[in-house]
Amino acid sequence: MRRKLAAGNWKMNGTAASLRELNALKSLLPADAPDVVICPPAPLLFRACEAARETGISIGAQDCHMQESGAFTGDISAAMIADTGATYVIVGHSERREAHEERDRDVRKKAQTAWNAGLTAIICIGETLEDHEANNTLDIIAGQLAGSLPGDMTATNTVIAYEPIWAIGTGKVPTLEQIVEVHDFIRSKLAVRYGTDVADMIPLLYGGSVKPDNAATIFRAENVDGALVGGASLKAADFAPIIRALAQS
Ligand code: 13P
Repeated sequence: MRRKLAAGNWKMNGTAASLRELNALKSLLPADAPDVVICPPAPLLFRACEAARETGISIGAQDCHMQESGAFTGDISAAMIADTGATYVIVGHSERREAHEERDRDVRKKAQTAWNAGLTAIICIGETLEDHEANNTLDIIAGQLAGSLPGDMTATNTVIAYEPIWAIGTGKVPTLEQIVEVHDFIRSKLAVRYGTDVADMIPLLYGGSVKPDNAATIFRAENVDGALVGGASLKAADFAPIIRALAQS
């Protein structure tokens, strides 16, 4: 059985006061809740790990530098993230790829650095609206998989999140058929490169405008093992129903 995972990406939102959502979330979760990880902004990581201690919720960062340490003013290393008690890090989010011009090979190095620090990497991929409309989605995804995933990926150190860029923060969501097609494609590509033992066990997340009212439909896709949620992860009252829908899927 593949594990299910609900990941919340707070992006550049929240202050220490927002961490009360962790306890609120815990109180709203069913006993059979899937794995849950919250990725707050970096300055909150330490306190988030403390606040999450009794909740069963894991904490992750939103990015790490590709180098282990050095003269990189303002950047954060994977080891620093692990030192806070966090256990996950998102790498290759489209907002990083766009605003910080991160390329596939940067993402690949970041994943490797994350693993070296003992973190699980949530590697993000996804096509632009232009590529979606030109029917290039599968080609783009194949290229990103080939370029962004290190060759020695295992089923335990990686989660892959498919986030169509045009669905992020827009309220637009692909049809269930489109989600099924892309996730099936990702799983089949992983099987070719890493073998079915690895491919069958890696959690694949869908991300992009996941909300309480569409989560159950999205989780019907066999190769969707959870979600990477932005806006709806900020409030426990919004994130909890998504997690419950995943538990029931
Ligand atoms: P939204 O859920 O706000 O669309 O954001 C998705 C996302 O980018 C998560 O990483």
